[in-house]
Amino acid sequence: MGRGSGFGKTILFGEHFVVHGVPGIASAVDSAVDAEVKKAANGINVTDERTGAKGYAEKKKLQQLESIERMLKAMNMDPQQVAIDIWLGGNLPGFSGLGASAASSVAIARAIAEEFELDLPDEKINDIAYEAEKAYAGNPSGIDNTAATFGGLIWFKKSLSGDSNTIEQLSIREPVEIVIGNTGIVANTKAMVAGVGERKQRNPKKYAELFRQAEDLALEGRKALEEFDLQKVGELMNENHRLLQEIEVSCKELDYLVELAREQEAFGAKMTGGGGGGCMLALTPRKELQEKVATAIENEGFEVLRTKIGVQKL
Ligand code: MEV
Repeated sequence: MGRGSGFGKTILFGEHFVVHGVPGIASAVDSAVDAEVKKAANGINVTDERTGAKGYAEKKKLQQLESIERMLKAMNMDPQQVAIDIWLGGNLPGFSGLGASAASSVAIARAIAEEFELDLPDEKINDIAYEAEKAYAGNPSGIDNTAATFGGLIWFKKSLSGDSNTIEQLSIREPVEIVIGNTGIVANTKAMVAGVGERKQRNPKKYAELFRQAEDLALEGRKALEEFDLQKVGELMNENHRLLQEIEVSCKELDYLVELAREQEAFGAKMTGGGGGGCMLALTPRKELQEKVATAIENEGFEVLRTKIGVQKL
């Protein structure tokens, strides 16, 4: 049997903007998807035992099958000929926006590689997971699979000319507590990414200015993280949320949870990932603040994940 894991992630700065070449910052969270793969008699059979948002696995089922087929092709295997049983589990909840699809693609790719005795370096696993991500995100930037593969805190800039993307590990003095709040709405990342692309084309001037601001925020965010100026990181996250509202990827449930976290004295809060539902992220250094914000969100009936950014390894 082959085994593999992939990190969940949260985006601190730049979701959606990264698709168009603006740099972004993502961090792995200390939760992962685990996969086991066994050669079988026929077909590709997936048993998904991940916990989390009700309906997530069902809603993503078709995209998941397409992603596995894409992955096999990227590994030079014929999806019609391969017969495998895939089991998915781990402690990453199936919340939309936490990079669950990329984490599962990385986990499955690693498990397939082990089962078929392919010696694949992380760079290759990352490329395979990127192909798989296209099933979920349409035109993904690659930031999710990169964070899922390498972990840590990542500076990511997609190359728009077909060259290699820029991937840098950022160092942070110590991991920092965050709260992920889940709206419970299973979002369609593909549709959200396509929507931004269309609006950008229709309003080139407005979007050029917003994209310029997003780039500045990513640069300032990087500096603040490296200087461990968490107040500043929080303020910049708030700014980033405003930009995401302007490009129309937030929704009233996300805005509500973001406001709630700020009222509870989170250093900053924003939606994270594709938006249109899915998750928000609150920066809550130290356990007490994390607990205060997490409990307030839970008291309103939403699920949360208490985790950290800047975690280096599984
Ligand atoms: C999704 O986690 C992040 C997006 O920017 C899509 C992508 O970068 O591929 C919305």
